[in-house]
Amino acid sequence: MNRRDFIQAGTASGLLLLKPKTVFGSEANSAVRLGLLGCGNRGTAVATSFSKSTTAQVVALADIFSDKLAAGKAHFDEVNSALGRAPIDNKLLFHGPHAFEQLAASPDVDLIQISTPPFFHVQHLGAAVAAGKHVYCEKPTGIDVAQTRQALEIAKSVKPSQSVDVGFQCRSAPPIAAVAARIQSGALGKIAAISANYNAPASTEKTRAGESADEYRLRNWLWDRALSGDILVEQNIHIIDLCNWMLGAHPIKASATGGRNILTHAGDCWDNYQVDFTYPNGVHLSFSSTQFGDYGGFDAGLKIFGSLGMATVPYSGPVQIVGSNAWAWRDSTKTAAGSGTFAANGAFSDNLEFADRDKERSFIESIVSGPKHNQIASGVETALSCMLGRMAGLTGREVTWEELLAHGESYSLGMNLEQFA
Ligand SMILES: NC(=O)c1ccc[n+]([C@@H]2O[C@H](COP(=O)([O-])OP(=O)(O)OC[C@H]3O[C@@H](n4cnc5c(N)ncnc54)[C@H](O)[C@@H]3O)[C@@H](O)[C@H]2O)c1
Repeated sequence: MNRRDFIQAGTASGLLLLKPKTVFGSEANSAVRLGLLGCGNRGTAVATSFSKSTTAQVVALADIFSDKLAAGKAHFDEVNSALGRAPIDNKLLFHGPHAFEQLAASPDVDLIQISTPPFFHVQHLGAAVAAGKHVYCEKPTGIDVAQTRQALEIAKSVKPSQSVDVGFQCRSAPPIAAVAARIQSGALGKIAAISANYNAPASTEKTRAGESADEYRLRNWLWDRALSGDILVEQNIHIIDLCNWMLGAHPIKASATGGRNILTHAGDCWDNYQVDFTYPNGVHLSFSSTQFGDYGGFDAGLKIFGSLGMATVPYSGPVQIVGSNAWAWRDSTKTAAGSGTFAANGAFSDNLEFADRDKERSFIESIVSGPKHNQIASGVETALSCMLGRMAGLTGREVTWEELLAHGESYSLGMNLEQFA
């Protein structure tokens, strides 16, 4: 078994050992105390996975809505009980619009996992970093250019003792990490172009008796451009992040089309985009996405074409390189491309089966043993790349990276969160 095969086998089988060091003065390999901010679908899945795959222990919960907090408490008390851990102390449950500040102020929490809707990520990241916490923050790092500027300021204030990750777990999926390493070391020769897509089912409506229009909007944030950033910035970002990462660059301009051709429900997010991104050296990424209905057409992935070969990187189906440096991920013939099951909570199977687990382990390793992470600037670069495509689509003309930074769209929440106190 050569070194690369050993690393592949080690990551896929969970052979990642934490070195004994201290976390905020606690003993070697003792629990990293995790506070979950946003007890929804994704937040619950990731914090559960942290609990099961790492030494992190969920000790605190925060959410704007008390019903979500109560559901989180019931769930994590069960998870903790199964792991022989104490239930969550009631004094570490925070709800309302200031819950994020109360969680950040808690001395009983080492790590804050931010799983709130995208509009709040940068504000919540700022509070958590200022309080000296380690942070795992979901993508996107901002929904408009102004938020990304704030995020970059926050990045500068991260102390050497803090670790901050952004939720691009696809980079940690063993088959994707393996093919990316080959592409980055030149296996495809000169890159000519990329073709990529993200075709997903619609998000489902959430309703509660007697709710206000604002509460409905907040619970259905995925339909709302200001709250989510639209499908390019919120969902398709995973694929665009992989393109940036594999090319080692961000797009310098984009032109795009798209619209809201199928959806008729509340909100203003588009249900399809077609974007032509231009990267340095004239490399074009032809990207298309849809998000509506649900007839089993889920398919996400990319194909990179180079002078020496082509790499195929789908969520489901063979991850491989054909051409001069032919290679295939050893397990990836078990599903056909486009046959995967969509997971609204991001906990996908197939090629992404170990993505969350391995990302979480590497993050906890960075906290316990170092070196510390600071992924904010990289998260911003990918978020801006998606905003470039969104702005090109919404304006109907080519937009450059410089124009985006100077004149990018800005969004406001348009509601007073104090009503949820
Ligand atoms: N990495 C992935 O694969 C992946 C997958 C799904 C979702 N996500 C991201 O995770 C985040 C959460 O998505 P979700 O699907 O769990 O949504 P969700 O609606 O299920 O959960 C969001 C939670 O945040 C709470 N919340 C809303 N506003 C808040 C505020 N201001 N303060 C405190 N709590 C607030 C809500 O009450 C809810 O419990 C989003 O940023 C989304 O983009 C990532």
